[in-house]
Amino acid sequence: MLEDLRPQPSDKIIEMIGLYKEDTREGKMDLGVGVYKNDAGVTPIMRSVKEAEKRLVKNQDSKSYVALAGQVDFVKFMREMSLADSVSADRIAGIQTPGGTGAIRQLYELIRMANPNAKIWVSDPSWPNHVAILKYLGMPHREYAYFDRKTCSVNFEAMLHDLDTVSADDVVILHGCCHNPTGANLTPEQWEIVADHLNARGALAMVDIAYQGFGDGLEADAAGLRILASKMPELLVAQSCSKNFGVYRDRVGAAFAISLNEEQAKIAQVNLNTLNRLNYSFPPDHGAAVLMELARDEKLVADWKDELEAMRLEMLEKRKALCAALRRETNSDRFDFIENHRGMFSLTGISSEAVLKLRDEYAIYMVHDSRLNIAGLQLSRVDHLAKAIASVI
Ligand code: LMR
Repeated sequence: MLEDLRPQPSDKIIEMIGLYKEDTREGKMDLGVGVYKNDAGVTPIMRSVKEAEKRLVKNQDSKSYVALAGQVDFVKFMREMSLADSVSADRIAGIQTPGGTGAIRQLYELIRMANPNAKIWVSDPSWPNHVAILKYLGMPHREYAYFDRKTCSVNFEAMLHDLDTVSADDVVILHGCCHNPTGANLTPEQWEIVADHLNARGALAMVDIAYQGFGDGLEADAAGLRILASKMPELLVAQSCSKNFGVYRDRVGAAFAISLNEEQAKIAQVNLNTLNRLNYSFPPDHGAAVLMELARDEKLVADWKDELEAMRLEMLEKRKALCAALRRETNSDRFDFIENHRGMFSLTGISSEAVLKLRDEYAIYMVHDSRLNIAGLQLSRVDHLAKAIASVI
């Protein structure tokens, strides 16, 4: 039977991790996968997380099963972080998931349980795995216009034009903040308009929030999501802790379904619990338990917020420095948008040939679509990167 298996298309982001590892050249630069690196080129364990983990190891006295939905306190912690009081808690069902990808996968399946004909709308462009999982599940999907490749900013008019064609059977995926891969984001006013348009069509929104705290700040980054939650009768949310707690490999996340009322939320909760059971029984506990240990101590929470804010400011500094260096090296304002983008990524708009040349000639790794991971760049290497880009475009 196994001889009938066929090769699978590779994920371009994950492929980049392998290519970079195999490269033996000195001074290679990894601007591919979305991982933060400090000035020493290391992805550190955050101080607050390390301390919480130490406490967990000391205090944990059982590894018996918890519950299908995961730890109730963890789910509440996640809910408060993303949704705050934008919607009444009794309308929200939530589960702990293996990272943000696990949350997306569970929510897709929840949609399919509710309506097997639902069509999912994804921004053009979007994180490739959004579409890859939909294809794997055999769920129909369409793209809506989002990014203006000339100005490297959101083409809101074109986006609304497409959103006006969605139907009540449709689900629209929106990036809560720090759009991946473009770095271009909606303003709060635009979020309000999106909510009105989707409400007018009776469509459901699903917000993927994987970078809260990396854009304009922990609260500001959730503003769009909270606007939708306060205005829409139903909403889905996939939340990740990979980046803002730096717990990438531990797989920590949560999925939420906001229903019209408490009664429907209870049914949504049973469905989410069942999906956990069907896919992996209980969500992985360790990473979430570490974050619960952190959440229990106000001082640790404050320390975590300081660390997160320092990362965010560092990313902004890198954006500024790269923008200035590119202005100098290209003698143009072509890349000025980099300073206005937010989050880990910017879609730079350079050609795929230029991306390949950067890899071949300079050992600089970016994703083929020209996405650059600002958080992977060291300030000391900004000039080198700018010179390399200028020489390949
Ligand atoms: C990325 O976009 O690089 C990250 O979200 C990591 C991943 O899983 O693709």
